[in-house]
This record gives sequence, structure tokens and C-alpha cells, in this order.
Amino acid sequence: MSFPADFVFGVATSAYQIEGAARQDGKGESIWDRFVREPGRIRDDATGDIACDHYHRWREDVELMASLGVNAYRFSIAWTRVLPDGDGRVNPAGLGFYDALVDALLENGIDPWVTLYHWDLPQALQERGGWPVRATVDAFVDYAELMAGALGDRVTNWITQNEPWVAAMLGHRAGVFAPGLRDWGAALAAGHHLLLSHGKAVEAIRANAAGARVGIAIDCRPNRAASQAPADVAAARHFDGFRNRWFFDPVFGKGYPQDMLAAYRNAGRILVEPAFVRSGDLETIATPIDFLGLNYYTSLAIRAGGEESEDTGVAPGTAPPPGYTEMGWEVTPDALGDFLRRIRDDYAPRSIVITENGASYSDPPGRDGIIRDQRRIAYLQAHLEQLEVARTAGVPVDGYFVWSLLDNFEWALGYSQQFGLVGVDRDSLERIPKQSFGFYRDFIAAQPEG
Ligand code: FCB
Repeated sequence: MSFPADFVFGVATSAYQIEGAARQDGKGESIWDRFVREPGRIRDDATGDIACDHYHRWREDVELMASLGVNAYRFSIAWTRVLPDGDGRVNPAGLGFYDALVDALLENGIDPWVTLYHWDLPQALQERGGWPVRATVDAFVDYAELMAGALGDRVTNWITQNEPWVAAMLGHRAGVFAPGLRDWGAALAAGHHLLLSHGKAVEAIRANAAGARVGIAIDCRPNRAASQAPADVAAARHFDGFRNRWFFDPVFGKGYPQDMLAAYRNAGRILVEPAFVRSGDLETIATPIDFLGLNYYTSLAIRAGGEESEDTGVAPGTAPPPGYTEMGWEVTPDALGDFLRRIRDDYAPRSIVITENGASYSDPPGRDGIIRDQRRIAYLQAHLEQLEVARTAGVPVDGYFVWSLLDNFEWALGYSQQFGLVGVDRDSLERIPKQSFGFYRDFIAAQPEG
């Protein structure tokens, strides 16, 4: 495999999953700080209070990335570290943390890719209604302006929102992620405001950071009908609308898909027109972006009855059947290649960057301390191959970020899922590069010099 010299090879993380220091140096409370304290929400009652302690060990983590040879690092800002109450008062210590991190990355030849929102809404804003209310959009834009002004002299690549489907639906409909609501109306309004905040932030970032490139990281779940039976085909079409098109279509100027508006209306989830959509919103959401970030992990076969379910029949656990990761997700690299071609055909983005791809396998260290995570290596290799196939077919894929640098706090599943190229000993927090770290390092080193 050979990628062009300017191809972006990175690793990705997010603030709540790695930083720890949950209430240190003036950081405010986020909805995840709150959610993890509610009994029964998180496997083993885990929290991100300490996580990987990246807040204190970030220099070591930057050194790890330097030795990995990546030319980019995608991380998120904890909104409550810089604006403890969500708006208003700025916390200089929080800004200082990201400032120093950005400098250290650049000194090591690593380009910072900043995500503004990776699910940790300030609790103060949640108390004023959170994403289901429109005022949260304005707070987000103010926050985006603050960060673009603070880091925009050194940060070129900005990601507004991470995985709006997850934030809207798992947070407000399924109730399994913060803020833990189970309300269709709230979920659809939250989704709209997440997209609107993205659209508004695109211009706000450009206005405050000369030369900024702005995108959004959308999670996708490619799918196929489990059979040619009409009911399965219809279920797959609905799943695709619910999971993919509802977000991709408006970002690329197509508005909300008509078939899904009708389906949601029929189910009584929205009234005749969604009241939260105001005149001009869809134009704002469709503000042209510089790159589309795609988070890809798996795909699904959908059968009737499963049009809004991701159940694969394999529960997250430690011994998945062959062909599945420990998340219970099937390993389907071909679906990534197919989806990339579909995205090109349906939406024609200028540039596509895989902003997350990776696999959960919990291979323990051997007696010699070595973590032999051959299944992760096979997963990464197979997905990288699909990028090359897509590029050869003319799809503008310009970058790839492995999820994740470190084993970290995997949301409702706590520390039971391990996605890292680097293991983290849960007692000592010692970093232990796995064999996949060596694989990715050697893979990058074998590419043409940038
Ligand atoms: C994605 C999230 C990321 C991580 C991976 C496994 O949905 O963006 O934070 O949890 O899944």
C-alpha cells in the first residue's frame, strides 16, 4: 500500500475519555461528570475522574506519538475546562493546558486536529435545557470563537461536532449516554441543534482563525438488507435514514430526508413540520465544509423489526465470535470502501478524512509483558487497504486517524473495552505500547516521505 506524502496519518482521543483531573484547576462539571455518578449508568461504576490521567501525563503521551511517527493528533477540548459554566467566565488554566499541548505537538511535527465537542456539555447548560434548546447553539458558537481565537494561530484543522447521531440519539432517546433522556422529541431537537451549531461554527471559526479548515465528524453505519424480502429491504432503508441520511443529507444541502420526515410524523415523533427547524437553518447547516470527517467501525444487516436497532446478537464482552470485536461489532472492512464510494456519489465532499477507525480487543500482556494484539493489526490493515482501493477509484480520502492512542474510558462500558494502540495499566496508569503500535509505526514509516 502506498499513500501520498501529504496523507494525514494520526491517532484520535477525546477529552473525557483520557484527561481525568475532572475537577482540577477550575474545570467545571460536564454532563458526563454528572452522568457517571448516577447509579447503574456505567459498567463497574467506572468514571472518567482519573481516566488515563492525560491531564498530568500529556508530555509522555506526546512523546509516544512522536515515536509512533504520526503527523497528526485529533483530540477534543473539554468545554468546561475553558468555560466552567458553559459561557461567560473564562478559565485561564484550562486555556493554558491546551495551549501548551498544541505547542508541544507542533514542536514534534504533529499537526493538532481540534474537536470542539465530543459529548461533554457543561452541566450548567444542561440545566438550562441542553441541546434540545436553541440557546445552547449560541453558547457553542461563543465557545468556538473563544477557542479559534486562542489556538487559531497554530491550529489549522477544526472539527465542530463529533458524532451527532450518538449525542442526540444515545443521549436523548436511548438514554444510555449523558444526559440520559428517553424522549424522541428531545432527541430530534438535540440533533437539529447539534447540526445547527456545526453550521454556525464553521463561519465563526473561519472568522477568528485565518486559514482554518473546518469539518464535522459524522458517525456512519453502512447497512444492507438481511434478505431481498420487501419488509427487510424497507427496514434497511429506514435504518439508513435514521442512522445516516438524517445527518449527512442536511450537512450537504439536501435538507432532512422526506421519507424520514414522513416516518417520524406518522409515528407522532414530530408534528407536521418539526417546530425546532426555523427559516434559514437548513442553509446554515449546509455551510460548505473543507473536509468531511467519517467515523467508521462496522456495518449491519437489517431485517424487519430492526429498523432502529443496532443489535448484532453479540453482546459486548470479552470473547466475541470470530469476525467480531469485543464491542459486539462485526468486522466489515469492505463496507467502508463501499460507503466511501457512496459518499462521493451522493454528496461529493471536497475531502474525506477517516476521523476514527479502530477495534476493541482486550489482549492481556504475555509473561514477557508484550501485548500481542494481532486481531487489531488485522483490523487496521484491512481498513487501510479499503482506503487505498477507494483512493484508486477517485474518492478523495486524505487522512486516517486510529481510534485510539490509549486504552481509555469507553463511555457506558467503562474500561471494559480497549481500543488503544497503547495499553494503560489501570493501577499504575503506565503506558504499554502494543504490537499494533509497532505495526502502525512501521506502516507510516514505509510511506513516501512528507
Ligand atoms: C465512537 C466515539 C469514540 C469512541 C469510539 C469507540 O463512537 O466517538 O469516543 O467511544 O466510538
